[in-house]
Amino acid sequence: MPRHIYINKKISPFNKEIEVSSDKSLSIRTVLLASQAVGISKISNLLESEDVLNALKIIKKLGINYKKKNNFYEIHGFGLNSFNPKNNTIINAGNSGTLGRLILSLLIKTEKKIKLIGDKSLSKRDFARVIKPLKLFGAKIESNKNYLPVIIRGTSFIRPINYAEQIGSAQIKTACCFGALNAPGTTFIRAKKSRNHTEILFKYLKIPIKVKSNKTFDLIEIKGLQQFNSFNYSIPGDISSSSFFIVLTVLSKNSKLIIRNININESRTGIVKILKMMNCKIILKNKKIYKGEKIADIFVKSSKILKPINCPANLNSSAIDELLLIFLVAGTKIKGVSSFKKLGELNKKESPRLNIAINFLRMIGIKVLRSKDNIKIYGNPKLDLRGKYHIKNFMKDHRIFMMSCVAALTLGGKWKIDDKDSINTSFPKFLNILKNLGAHINWKKEKIL
Ligand code: S3P
Repeated sequence: MPRHIYINKKISPFNKEIEVSSDKSLSIRTVLLASQAVGISKISNLLESEDVLNALKIIKKLGINYKKKNNFYEIHGFGLNSFNPKNNTIINAGNSGTLGRLILSLLIKTEKKIKLIGDKSLSKRDFARVIKPLKLFGAKIESNKNYLPVIIRGTSFIRPINYAEQIGSAQIKTACCFGALNAPGTTFIRAKKSRNHTEILFKYLKIPIKVKSNKTFDLIEIKGLQQFNSFNYSIPGDISSSSFFIVLTVLSKNSKLIIRNININESRTGIVKILKMMNCKIILKNKKIYKGEKIADIFVKSSKILKPINCPANLNSSAIDELLLIFLVAGTKIKGVSSFKKLGELNKKESPRLNIAINFLRMIGIKVLRSKDNIKIYGNPKLDLRGKYHIKNFMKDHRIFMMSCVAALTLGGKWKIDDKDSINTSFPKFLNILKNLGAHINWKKEKIL
């Protein structure tokens, strides 16, 4: 099978109902927390993508058994700090920054030498952001100048910390929360707002946590060394995966889509808020609460020309994985100039997404001005592409691949998009869903290119 695909035709109008993959953040967190719970946890609808399967492989290497049953995984936890690895165990987080950073935080008390490695993309991502608080807890950590491989040696002399998280990164916040599980006394975290699945899971699991929030920060207190029981959890659909289809619909003509059973936690729905500010037709219906998380069905329709926005930077974190798609809408469906600020974190993802998004928009003829980490996008809703485009995706970034497919299916032109296998990290059924919506995707080169 070639590793690239060809798209030479816009998608025809569709009116369908779909389900997307399960939420990745919740899948990784529930696997890791089940590994620390007392008893057998059952997780159904677990996302079976490489990032989550790597989480399962890692806990197994650290001595925790799991079994796949029909549509659920059983994870056999023995409580806090019950990992039982051999000395010098190597664990591989693959492409996942979340997994790499969170697993380190569960190892601060494991008195063995563990080496964390990852793929080419993860090896270019900075681990200082978690090494710093984890060293404060007392863990001994060596690294390649804050990059992988990271070697962690846990110690029984763990102390609670008082930490100010300034970036708005849920990975750092969660690393502090997970570290707090093994610390005696109370850990205090003052975190700039970011996704809050970990806090919600802690409350559901009755781990002693208090959260006070204002507009910009969450003040979190966690009492450590409290065992918690195994649990059952059914993972809802992923808003980040849904977003490719939301934007596909917005950019397509005369189309309608319903996406069922999606986690619409406010700390994740920046894309919905931002698209609504642009005048997109999106409605969240059939809302319900599941174990503290909000779930709903998403109804979306094609849009006519939309209005430009000055995007408030405080929405960046709740749309962090969707900004690429939002820029695409701003560039191709809006008449006027939209501005986005404080986008530096985007360059710290699986690939430097801010640089790539700017190059991508310029490649298709959209004017983008950049000043430091702020951009202005000069939208052109009359864009009708006729050229040939090759997306090389050097860092094999799944979200660059999927965003490129959405662009190719809605803007015209002849496209070759490399590294289709990248979708296996987060959304293996992405191309199948596109095909069910009627997209023509070719695996073989046609004469045209
Ligand atoms: C994630 C947090 C986000 C996001 C990533 C998943 C998580 O990263 O980009 O895809 O599950 O905690 P940051 O919190 O570092 O911004």
